Amino acid sequence: MKAILCTGFGPPETLSLADIAAPQPGPGELAVTVTACALNFFDTLIIEGKYQYRPDFPFSPGAEIAGVVKAVGEGVAGFRPGDRVIGYLGWGGCREEVVAGVDKFVALPAGLDDAVAAGLTVTYGTTLHALKGRARLQPGETLAVLGAAGGVGQAAIEIGKLLGAKVIACASSDDKIEFCKALGADEGFNYASGDLKEGLKRLTGGNGVDVVYDAVGGDLSEPALRAIAWRGRFLVVGFAAGSIPKIPLNLVLLKGCDIVGVFWGDHIAREPESHRADMAQLLDWAAAGRIRPHIHKRYSLAETPQALQALAAREIKGKAVVVP
Ligand SMILES: NC(=O)c1ccc[n+]([C@@H]2O[C@H](COP(=O)([O-])OP(=O)(O)OC[C@H]3O[C@@H](n4cnc5c(N)ncnc54)[C@H](OP(=O)(O)O)[C@@H]3O)[C@@H](O)[C@H]2O)c1
Repeated sequence: MKAILCTGFGPPETLSLADIAAPQPGPGELAVTVTACALNFFDTLIIEGKYQYRPDFPFSPGAEIAGVVKAVGEGVAGFRPGDRVIGYLGWGGCREEVVAGVDKFVALPAGLDDAVAAGLTVTYGTTLHALKGRARLQPGETLAVLGAAGGVGQAAIEIGKLLGAKVIACASSDDKIEFCKALGADEGFNYASGDLKEGLKRLTGGNGVDVVYDAVGGDLSEPALRAIAWRGRFLVVGFAAGSIPKIPLNLVLLKGCDIVGVFWGDHIAREPESHRADMAQLLDWAAAGRIRPHIHKRYSLAETPQALQALAAREIKGKAVVVP
């Protein structure tokens, strides 16, 4: 079978397309033919050795997949060859077949497109955990999303609206803001051409925002925190800008607000029941058309390096998906 391999840490152009032996499922495992592998920003980091997980070489990037069960290992109940599934693997998805423990997979309801379903787990899972579980976002509250046109960003717009919030999408171009409004954002703010603190204050009539969803970090975090409302919650989701901001703690005192960490990878390991409930909710919403993750582009397996380059260059709106 064909696989994209990372044989040493480096940029996307150092990845190679190789023929390798198809893996066989061991006890408790499924072998799955991959129909789609959704990419995430952290795939650009994991291949460079800059992420919290450093897999052994050779490995494939790609954390989340959709596919069809090809074979089941000894002792597996609940799945049969031919079943459609989605799965979260952490890495290893950019290949024609994968093998992993049965607990990594969830059955995929009929009618959901594979490329769309492949990208539901990480970005929408993180965001439901963040907005509902960590921020306890309430109907009528105001939610500001930084990096709103990206993967977790589009999830925050869609889930924020479903939870009843007024959503302010913040992004680096007017084109991205238009995309966010088409996804359902009530307001938009271009932080490349205006002052984020002033913009968020203006759009909330001076009150500030109740919840900030920050997947960007860098120079944007502090102005966003300065625009938070009394008793606001500031969600620390990621640092796509590449630098981790240092926050003056007096702001937290003066606002009576909370800075709340979001670590989905540990959440699903430590609180698997909550994760399962979130996935059931997300699949229900997707099957009912209440969330509609946008696919920016479908790439072939051989085009995986170009897809990762586009993610790193901030060119992707919604999700980039590899279709082996
Ligand atoms: N905490 C968790 O459990 C968790 C889970 C999943 C992901 N994350 C993190 O969330 C962040 C976003 O992930 P994603 O997959 O949604 O990424 P993405 O699709 O690439 O979106 C990231 C957005 O960040 C903005 N950005 C600002 N500076 C950037 C830069 N120098 N390079 C790239 N993007 C930049 C871009 O929007 P503009 O151009 O509009 O600024 C881009 O749309 C990552 O840091 C990821 O590791 C965290």
